[in-house]
Amino acid sequence: MFQSIPCHREQPMRITILGATGLLGKALMGEWKEDEVTGFGSADGDIRDETRVLNLVQRTRPDWIVLAAAYTDVDGCETNRDLAFDVNCRGAVNVARAAKQHGARLLFVSTDYVFDGTKTTPYAADDPRSPRTVYGQSKAEAELQLSEILPECCIVRTSWLFGPGGKCFPDTILRLAASRPHLEVVGDQRGSPTYSQDLARAIVQLCRQGASGIVHATNRGECSWYEFAREIIAGAGLATVVHETTSDKFVRPAKRPHYSVLSPETLEKRGIAMPDWRNALQRYLARTT
Ligand SMILES: NC(=O)c1ccc[n+]([C@@H]2O[C@H](COP(=O)([O-])OP(=O)(O)OC[C@H]3O[C@@H](n4cnc5c(N)ncnc54)[C@H](OP(=O)(O)O)[C@@H]3O)[C@@H](O)[C@H]2O)c1
Repeated sequence: MFQSIPCHREQPMRITILGATGLLGKALMGEWKEDEVTGFGSADGDIRDETRVLNLVQRTRPDWIVLAAAYTDVDGCETNRDLAFDVNCRGAVNVARAAKQHGARLLFVSTDYVFDGTKTTPYAADDPRSPRTVYGQSKAEAELQLSEILPECCIVRTSWLFGPGGKCFPDTILRLAASRPHLEVVGDQRGSPTYSQDLARAIVQLCRQGASGIVHATNRGECSWYEFAREIIAGAGLATVVHETTSDKFVRPAKRPHYSVLSPETLEKRGIAMPDWRNALQRYLARTT
């Protein structure tokens, strides 16, 4: 299912994953078979603590650090701006400095929210950043600072993550559908759902290739949340009816982008093709329902 150019690395590498207890982190821990992997959650590796981060990197002596740790509550970031920047930006800078000091490569996981969502065609990796939310601003600022500290850094932007072991949209829809005959879901926000396992496999390949620069990595294709919900309900064989609604009926602290599809060009240029999101959803539902 994944096409990939031959790995440049035949020898196992030492990999340190920060954010290993999150949705993506768990998938990385499960999917990464080729190398020697050590993972940390916030209890063992709070990235806001510069000394602790340095010690952790010194102890694990990684070839690569994968930074999947983040404060990901997009609405929470609007009211906790300091926390958002402390974790997502200053924390990331601590990790980049430790990587530089110890000669480790860094892969930083970033987001479609660095864009404003006003385009109607897929965002290219070199489109200008224009975040509209505190979460997006904190990640965009981190991208800039990390590229200054470590020009060889690999920045992987992704979107609409789902998978086992964390809060995700398919689980929410299935939970609601279990108790309601009708659901209302917004149809005016479009993006690319991304299965954490597929993203994890793409990240493994990027590290083994020694990738640098900005890479957009999502499952292929796009949909609205409404279309995504309908596919989840149909895939699970449920009878719940999904009605399409608009974002103005669901006002939230952080304004969601109307369009945040990321172009697959940068990933495909590296010989990696992620499957279509419908295929990814089928595989996820097959293991959970
Ligand atoms: N979820 C999405 O839809 C989405 C979309 C685009 C991009 N992303 C990006 O993808 C990455 C992974 O997201 P996710 O959904 O897997 O996140 P998640 O499930 O919310 O997990 C967040 C991870 O970050 C860790 N963490 C939080 N604060 C920390 C701190 N101060 N120090 C160290 N670790 C800390 C958490 O550790 P504990 O659990 O141990 O506290 C957890 O392991 C993030 O960089 C996120 O910005 C996510």
